[in-house]
Amino acid sequence: MHVLKTVEEMRAASRALRQLGQRLALVPTMGALHAGHLSLIRLARERADAVAASIFVNPLQFSPEEDLLRYPRNFPRDRDLLENEGVELLFAPSVEDMYPEPPATLVTVEGLTEALCGRSRPGHFRGVATVVAKLFAIVAPDLACFGQKDAAQLAVIRRMVRDLDIPVEIVAGPIVREADGLAMSSRNAYLTPQERAAAPALFRSLERVRALYEDGERRSGPLVAAGTRPLEEEPRLRLDYFEIVDPDSLLARERIEDRALVAVAAFLGTTRLIDNLLLGAQPGLARETN
Ligand code: PAF
Repeated sequence: MHVLKTVEEMRAASRALRQLGQRLALVPTMGALHAGHLSLIRLARERADAVAASIFVNPLQFSPEEDLLRYPRNFPRDRDLLENEGVELLFAPSVEDMYPEPPATLVTVEGLTEALCGRSRPGHFRGVATVVAKLFAIVAPDLACFGQKDAAQLAVIRRMVRDLDIPVEIVAGPIVREADGLAMSSRNAYLTPQERAAAPALFRSLERVRALYEDGERRSGPLVAAGTRPLEEEPRLRLDYFEIVDPDSLLARERIEDRALVAVAAFLGTTRLIDNLLLGAQPGLARETN
């Protein structure tokens, strides 16, 4: 595996692969890798000749009150995991290399960047869209894989790619869960044992919604009420939002006509966890391309 530390090195490595006619996939990450990330690497591998992963904790997507400094970092471990997965290129730039000066150009995906997590994390999705646009410009991949767990991020990136005609296919990987249903996340490492024990309530709440939906309920009101109950029963949890929205526009839905995204975010102590469920999706739709 080649480790590229600068934008220039990364560009040259990608160019060399493309000159050989290779189809290149990118899996952008902020490191602290877990099984969810590794599943994205495997998804990328199935669809490309060569896989690049990036590790970059992007300051632009953290607000001043957020956890930029305490965000988990373990480069040697991450590098070994990626090497074991057969990743060809690892792009791990410094903040100075990615942002030699504060960027004057920022990517705002109107409407979407203010929905769901964007409402409680102003500027977050603008930071994500900006860094992903930069990564696409630097790495020039044919396709890029993102986790379905960050469903709003996925919608923002899909829309950005469409609006800006960026020639990158976006592939979504299904949520990977612990045995008790907790969605894998680098932030799970922050949870105390008591908080960790309470965390699967998010998954349970989504499962209640799924059960009611499968019984035929299509109105968002009763579905949301059923979903929020297990969260209210868990005293350690503080709900941020529980919403049923269109998976592409992220606009609220009163009723589920075809596909819908049920999205939840809640705090356990100072850690914010998110999870979601796609309803009405066709089997096999885990791979949704742009
Ligand atoms: O999902 C993440 O880890 C980040 O938001 C991403 C896409 C790597 C951009 O920094």
